[in-house]
Order: sequence, then C-alpha cells, then structure tokens
Amino acid sequence: MNIDKFLKEKIAEIKKKVVKNEKALVATSGGVDSVVAAIIAKRALGDNLYVLLLDTGFMREGEIEETKNFFEKEGITLEIWDVKEKFFEALKGKIDPEEKRMSFRECFYKTLGQAVKSYSVDFLIQGTIAADIVETQKGIKTQHNVLSQVGINPLSFGLKIIEPLKELYKPDVRKLAKALKFPKKIYDRQPFPGPGLSVRVIGEVTPDRIRKVRIATSIVEKTLTSSKIFQVFPVLLSDKATGIISGKRVYGDIIAIRAVESKDAITAKVPKIQLSKLEKVMKEIVEKVPDVVKVLYDITPKPPSTIEYI
Ligand code: XMP
Repeated sequence: MNIDKFLKEKIAEIKKKVVKNEKALVATSGGVDSVVAAIIAKRALGDNLYVLLLDTGFMREGEIEETKNFFEKEGITLEIWDVKEKFFEALKGKIDPEEKRMSFRECFYKTLGQAVKSYSVDFLIQGTIAADIVETQKGIKTQHNVLSQVGINPLSFGLKIIEPLKELYKPDVRKLAKALKFPKKIYDRQPFPGPGLSVRVIGEVTPDRIRKVRIATSIVEKTLTSSKIFQVFPVLLSDKATGIISGKRVYGDIIAIRAVESKDAITAKVPKIQLSKLEKVMKEIVEKVPDVVKVLYDITPKPPSTIEYI
C-alpha cells in the first residue's frame, strides 16, 4: 500500500463528499480503526468535524482517559457522552448473543442519531474495515458498525455514512497509524470489538458482571499482551461452578481466557502460553475478581471457533 497516495485520495474523497458548510461527526472508540478514520477526516474537514466517544459503560479500565489524552495531543477536542444507563437498559434481561448484538447496535445508532441532530451534522464517518464487512456478509456475525451490509438504511437513522477504511485489513490500518506517527499503544493495540466488554460477558449484561470482566481484562492484558499475540482477553461465562471462598463451599463464576495469533482475524490459532504465566493470571483473577472460582484457558482455533464468544 502506498500510504501517501491512500491518504491523499481519502482526504480528497471526504472533501468532495462533505461540501463547504456541511459538517461531519466521527464516532471513535479509541481503537486503531476509528482513530485513523478520525485523523483522516480531521485533515479533510478541520473545524467542520466533531469527534465523539460514546461512553457505553463497556470500555476497559482507563480507556476513555487515554483516548481523550491522545486526541488532545493531536489538537482535537474529544466530545464524550455518558450513555451508560441507556446501554445497560437496552441489554437488560437479554441473553441470546445475536439479540444482545442487535440491541447494542440499535442503541448505538439511536444515540448516534441523537448526536447527529445535536451537533447538526450531515455525515457520519466510521472506521469500518474490510474484515467487518466480509464477516457480516458471510452471516458469521452482526458487526455493530456495518449497517448497509445488513439491510439497514442508515438514512432512516438520519445518517449519511462515509467509511474511508472499508477496503483495508487490519495490518494496513496499523501501517497507516504508524505512518501517522501515533503512539505504539494505539497502532499496536489489540483489536477490541465495538460493543466492548458487553460481548465478553456471556448471558445477561449487568453493571456488576461488566465490572468483573473489566477487572479481569486489566489483569490479563497486563500479563499476557505480547507482540506475537493478536488478541488476549477474559470472558465471563454464564455457567457456574462450585468452589471454595473463605473456607466456604460456594457456587461461583467461571472466567475463560482467550488468546489468539492471527493476521486478519479471519482465521486464528492459539498460542502455547507458558503455564506459569497462566497460573500468575489465574491467581490474580481469583484474588481480585469477586466470586470467581475457576479460570480456564481456551485452546480452540478459528475455525471451528470464532475469536469472541458471542
Ligand atoms: P470473531 O469473533 O468473529 O471476531 O472471530 C473477529 C474479529 O472481529 C472482532 N469483532 C468485532 N469488532 N465490532 C467490532 O468492531 C463487533 O461487533 C465485533 N465483533 C467481533 C473480534 O474482536 C475479532 O478481532
């Protein structure tokens, strides 16, 4: 990929679509895709672009603050909307994985629709990449950000959409981010799904269950992140198991650790992480995450498994 050429073309394309006094909004999660999309859009539109982060309640520890600081350094004000209550309400009582994804997506777009109205913008710019579209077309998963591919007309949400990265796969997006001189923490950051920690909780999504998986995520990322590993994260299962906490027999939670090596997320294999490292993580999880009595390591590649659990 010729990076300069790509950037020039995309900036020109956005300038052509969003004319003179029109304004655009880019929704960022702080992940490499939406951050690159935001920076490209900023170069094209300057003050006619708003950058918004929806705090759904499903972000990881410290993530919002880090994203805010990053954009500040780039001279961009990050607008943050606290919409936690709305998202927990939207997912309340839902157990079926696709229903959960649909509810997330609906809530996400309704909220964005409100943002579009509130900032009086004409366009929404998104960091959708090729893998998102391929997987949604194949019916493997309802990606939260691929509206047009699943028969939803974005216009019915009041949105005109621009997706500057939709021909690219992850490695190219990372190359772009590196060329744009983003910190390693951004361009090398592991993919994190749009619905965030809500897809790392099997069964009902509640503030308490999200809190548990958030603590576990910090522990897992701190100890197991490495350049060879594409994604590594814990998942809170809906099953329970017996265990012993403070000398008492209890029926507690199970956390599975998922680690994968992959280039494009289409296929993935499982790294042979040293047992001693896994043990270290297990000990910290059991100690710091309330009610956890079992920690498992998932050894299933993709296919037949997927990377995420829902
Ligand atoms: P699966 O689980 O299908 O995941 O093997 C493939 C890749 O996609 C990520 N993923 C998502 N990313 N919104 C996103 O932005 C989503 O709804 C979503 N679901 C899965 C997943 O983390 C992996 O990298």
